Amino acid sequence: MTLFAAVRLPREILFGKGQRHILANVASKYGRRALLCTDERFAATAAFAEMRSALASASIETFVYGRTLPDVPRDSVAVCVEQARGFKPDMVIGIGGGSCLDMAKCAALLLSHGGRLQDYYGEFKVPGPTLPVIAVPTTAGTGSEVTPVAVISDPDRTLKVGVSSPHLIATAAICDPDLTMTCPASLTAITGADALTHAIEAFTAIKRGADPTLPQHHVFIGKSALTDHFALLAIKLLGRSLEKAYRDGSNADARADVMMGAMAAGCAFGTAGTAAAHAVQYPVGALTHTAHGLGVATMLPYVMHYNLPAAASEIAEVGAALGLTPGDGGPQALARATIAEIRRLFLAIEIPSKLSQLGLAEDKIDWTADQALGIDRLIKNNPRPFDGAAKRRLVKAAYDGDIAGAN
Ligand SMILES: NC(=O)c1ccc[n+]([C@@H]2O[C@H](COP(=O)([O-])OP(=O)(O)OC[C@H]3O[C@@H](n4cnc5c(N)ncnc54)[C@H](O)[C@@H]3O)[C@@H](O)[C@H]2O)c1
Ligand SMILES: [Fe+2]
Repeated sequence: MTLFAAVRLPREILFGKGQRHILANVASKYGRRALLCTDERFAATAAFAEMRSALASASIETFVYGRTLPDVPRDSVAVCVEQARGFKPDMVIGIGGGSCLDMAKCAALLLSHGGRLQDYYGEFKVPGPTLPVIAVPTTAGTGSEVTPVAVISDPDRTLKVGVSSPHLIATAAICDPDLTMTCPASLTAITGADALTHAIEAFTAIKRGADPTLPQHHVFIGKSALTDHFALLAIKLLGRSLEKAYRDGSNADARADVMMGAMAAGCAFGTAGTAAAHAVQYPVGALTHTAHGLGVATMLPYVMHYNLPAAASEIAEVGAALGLTPGDGGPQALARATIAEIRRLFLAIEIPSKLSQLGLAEDKIDWTADQALGIDRLIKNNPRPFDGAAKRRLVKAAYDGDIAGAN
């Protein structure tokens, strides 16, 4: 088969303990006026005060929007942009969890191109480059610091919506694992499980081949040699350290592994895309108001089981990256052992093992399946196709906790 690869990434990814101190240096390449998007938690920290004073020392004026809310309500972006427009920023710096990074990407979009956020929902609707964005994550999960996606909640829509465009990729990502040391265990688990789901869904995504027009029309284009490389790195790092970081948040080496894993997973899924576990989370999250990472991770083992007939050898490779050794049973047996290992890991970090535990009502199973089936860009990316009956079977199996029922 022809070797095919595509990957879209920031111009600079800087990773390592203490990298946050380089922010002012990086920012000075992009102008003298920076809009800082963060949330109330981070705005009150000494680390934030230090970053602001370093920017001031580098003669960079700042305007702080410090009220970013989880899941980025649509109208809060308009408020941020309204407040910041008169300041005429040269760049936008997002510091915080995925919500703050997505807020920064959306603010840069509206400051550059005007209009309303809803004008850009979907793929490839952003007409051109935006103000440069510098992304400084404080969680290890979403990968938003490197992805072409911003996810927001719109009061007029039941499901969360995305703006997906290569123009949304941050110009620079500055990843300092010290910033994640304050994450409580539950946040470490939820965001880390989201990252592992990104890596596994990207690695097991459909392989579409070498159609040269594909990356010009779609943001998520399936797996390829380069995204595989990042996905396997992410799986290896998260496999060896997510549980450690969950059990002991002061373990700096584990924190670094998990943050690198989350970023590498973002490098993979930002081009390869995610698939059915993410598709089901959208309606589940809308109904149960549970965190994104909880929903995708709850679904992941069921989706992997459903995908066995189409992707056993890829799932077995996931197992090898997790450190499992192949036995005598070939890829099928290793793939099954891999699913068991993911279930063990998620149980160890207290991820629910079935959708009923997330509060999904039994009479919403079919609705959830139908909504998930409608998320074309994710469903088409799954290695094994779905029809309505298969999707309902999958959601029912995940509701009941019946892994064998996901067939
Ligand atoms: N753009 C993408 O590619 C992408 C991918 C996946 C998910 N998302 C989106 O990202 C959002 C979730 O982001 P998230 O999971 O990073 O959480 P978040 O940004 O929503 O933050 C959740 C909570 O954690 C707190 N927090 C953040 N960092 C902390 C730290 N170091 N110590 C203590 N508390 C901290 C925040 O203040 C907040 O209260 C969702 O809206 C999701 O849909 C985006
Ligand atoms: Fe995710």
